[in-house]
Amino acid sequence: ILENRVDSVMKLMTLEEKIGQLNQYNGFWEITGPTPKEGQAAKKYADLKNGLVGSMLNVKGVKDVRALQKIAVEETRLGIPLIFGFDVIHGYKTISPIPLAEAASWDLVEIKRSAAVAAEEAASVGLNWTFAPMVDISRDARWGRVMEGSGEDPYLGSQIAVARVQGFQGDNLNAKNTILATAKHFAGYGFSESGRDYNTVDVGESTLQNIIFPPFKAAVDAGVRTFMNSFNELNGIPATGNKYLQRDILKEDWKFDGFVVSDWGSINEMMAHGYAKDSKQAAEIAINAGSDMDMESYAYVEYLSALVKEGKVKESVIDDAARRILRVKFELGLFDNPYLYCDENYEKETVGKPAFQEAVLEMAKKSIVLLKNEKELLPLKKSGQKIVVIGALANDKTSPLGSWRIAADDESAVSLLEGMQKYKGNNLTYIKGADVAVGRTQFVWETKINMTDKSGFAEAIKAAKGADVVVMSLGEHGLQSGEGRSRTDLGLAGVQQELLEEVYKVNPNVVLVLNNGRPLAIPWADENIPAIVEAWHLGTQSGNAIAQVLYGDYNPSGKLPMTFPRSVGQVPIYYNYKNTGRPVMTEPDSVFWSHYIDEENTPLYPFGYGLSYSKFEYSNIELSQKSFADNGQIEVSVLLKNTGKYSGKEVVQLYIRDLFASVTRPVLELKGFEMIELQPNETKKVSFVINKKTIEFFSANSKWEAEAGDFKVFVGGSSTKTLEADFQYKKN
Ligand code: IFM
Repeated sequence: ILENRVDSVMKLMTLEEKIGQLNQYNGFWEITGPTPKEGQAAKKYADLKNGLVGSMLNVKGVKDVRALQKIAVEETRLGIPLIFGFDVIHGYKTISPIPLAEAASWDLVEIKRSAAVAAEEAASVGLNWTFAPMVDISRDARWGRVMEGSGEDPYLGSQIAVARVQGFQGDNLNAKNTILATAKHFAGYGFSESGRDYNTVDVGESTLQNIIFPPFKAAVDAGVRTFMNSFNELNGIPATGNKYLQRDILKEDWKFDGFVVSDWGSINEMMAHGYAKDSKQAAEIAINAGSDMDMESYAYVEYLSALVKEGKVKESVIDDAARRILRVKFELGLFDNPYLYCDENYEKETVGKPAFQEAVLEMAKKSIVLLKNEKELLPLKKSGQKIVVIGALANDKTSPLGSWRIAADDESAVSLLEGMQKYKGNNLTYIKGADVAVGRTQFVWETKINMTDKSGFAEAIKAAKGADVVVMSLGEHGLQSGEGRSRTDLGLAGVQQELLEEVYKVNPNVVLVLNNGRPLAIPWADENIPAIVEAWHLGTQSGNAIAQVLYGDYNPSGKLPMTFPRSVGQVPIYYNYKNTGRPVMTEPDSVFWSHYIDEENTPLYPFGYGLSYSKFEYSNIELSQKSFADNGQIEVSVLLKNTGKYSGKEVVQLYIRDLFASVTRPVLELKGFEMIELQPNETKKVSFVINKKTIEFFSANSKWEAEAGDFKVFVGGSSTKTLEADFQYKKN
C-alpha cells in the first residue's frame, strides 16, 4: 500500500519536482519575519515556493516549522510536505551525556531511553529527523568526534547503534514522539589519518568489513531510515561519490530502502578532494553513486535536470532517490498530516519536562567510570570533612553540555560545585585555580583564551593545605572536543597539569574528576593521584550525577568504551589489535620485537575497564562442552561474587580469540556482555552462549563465515582481567 501511495505521487511529479525532493537547505531567514527579497535567502525562498526543496535543516520551534511547512503544503503545486532535520546528538534542550559517555554505561536500556527522550523533546518542537546516531568506530583519541560515537569496538558499537535507532524511531514513526534516525558517517570517518578531522582515510577491506561496517549494518537491521555519507575520502574515492559504499554495500547487499543524505556541502567538496572538476560533475558523481539528498551544496537543484537531459544521469536514478525520500515522508505520516509535529501546546508541555531531567540524570550516573580509588578516599564522607573544590570546570555550567548541543541554553547544566553544595554536611570551599578555555559556540571557537595564567595557583594551594580532601575538576572544556576539534596533545588542557601537581605537593588526598570528550593521556595522575573519576561531559544534570557518585549515593558501574593511552605516541591504540609476528621479546634485551623503546605497549586504562565501590571476584570458568559444530553451541559460565561492602553492578564481558584463520584475527574480540547486580557477599552464575554467529568474520573468501579451528574464550571485568578457556569449532 505504501509503495502504491508513493507511486501515486511520483506519477504527478515533473522531473524538476522530483529533483526538488532531493534538495535540502539550511534554515535561511528570519522565518516568520518579512519575506527575503535578495541574496541566497531569496533564492531558497523562491525554490521552496516552486516545490524545489524536499527538506530543511536547522529550523526548529513549532512556529517556524509550521510557517515553512505551510509554504510547502499550501503554496507549491503538489503540496508535498518537508522533513525537518536537526543534529539532536545527545538531547535537544535537555542534554544527556555525550554519546561516548553514554557508551561507557554499557546499559542498552538506558541508552535507548536517552534517545527516546531526545526524540520526544525534538519532535515536540516540530522536528522529525535527527542526524544521529554517529556510529563511526574510532581508535584515535586525537579525533575530536570520538565524543559523538560509541568508541572503538564494533560489537559494543553495534549494540548501541541498535539501541539508539530504536530509541529515536520507536515502534511507530508515525507517532508524535518519534523521529527518523540517521546512521552516519558512511564510511570510515573515524579512521581519518592522524586523527585530524576530515583527513584522508585509507583502510583495507578487512578493517572496513570487520571493524567499520558492523554498526552500520546493525543500524540497517534495526530499521534505521536514513544514512549520511561522509566528508572523508575512502581509499581514493570520496565517500559522497562512492558507489561501492552507497550502492553496492548499502543498497544492494544490505537492502537498505531508506535514503542517503550527503554531509554538509560534501558533494561540492569533491572538487577540493580533486575528484570532480566542478559542481555539475560533483552532482553527477554523487547521484550516480547513490547519494539521494544534497545537503547545502546546491548542486542537485542546479544541475541534475541538465544532467538528465544530457544523458549523464538516468531519470530512473532520480526516480529511485525521490521514491526513497517520499517513502520515508509517508512513513512519518506527513502526507496524512503535515502538521503532525506542529502543536504549540504539546511543545510547551514537553520541552524540558521533569521526566526528561530524571532520565538524563540516570543516564549521567551510569556513564561515570571510576578509574582509581586508593586509600578509600571515595566515597566522600557526608559530614565532618573539610573539602576544597578546585578547577574552572567545577564551576562551569556550559562545559558539561559538551559538544553538539545546539539547541540547549548556555549555562543550563548543573555544575559540579552546585551538585556538591547540595550535600550540606561538609565544609565546602571553591577555588578556580586556573582557566581551561572559553568555548563560545558550537561553530566558532574563541581564540582569546588565557590558558597560561597561573596567578590563581597560590590561592588554590593555600586552600588545599588545610583540607581533608581536595576535589579537582580538570580536563577539557566541552567545546574542546567535537567536530573540527582534533588535538595533538591528550593531556589536561592548559596549565591544569601543573596545577594538579602543585596542589598534590601540599595535599595528596586529591580526588581527580576528569571532564573530557575523549580518552586522555594522564600517566602522572594515574601514578600519583589516589582517586580518579571519569565524568566526561555529562549534560544538563552533570553536577548532580557526579556529586551522587562522589558521596556514594550512586555506586559507579561504567566501563571504558575506548582505550586510554599512556601517551599520544601510542595512538591509535585499541584492545582488539593483531598480534604481529614479533609480539614479545624472545632474546634477553633484544630490541627486535614490536615495541617502543621509550614507552610500554600497554594502555593506561584498557577498553572495558572500570571500578566500583564494590569488589568483584571472578572464578570457575566452565564450558558446557569443548567443541561445537555447525548448529551447535557452547555455554560458557563464570561465578561472580561481590566481596565488597557495597551493593553494586558489574558489566561482565565475554571475549574470544580465533587462534589461526585465513586472515589474521585480533588477539581479543568482545562478543557479549551482561550487567549483573550483586549485594555484598552475593554470588551469581553468569552465562553466555557461543555459536557460529559469535565466531564469524569477513574471511579470505571475501564473505562473512565461521572457519573451523581453535579458539580461546575469556570472561572478566575488562579486556585485560579475564578468566580463560579453550574451545573448538568443527565444520560438519
Ligand atoms: O550532521 C552533521 C554532520 O555530522 C557534520 N556536518 C554537518 C551535519 C549537519 O549539521
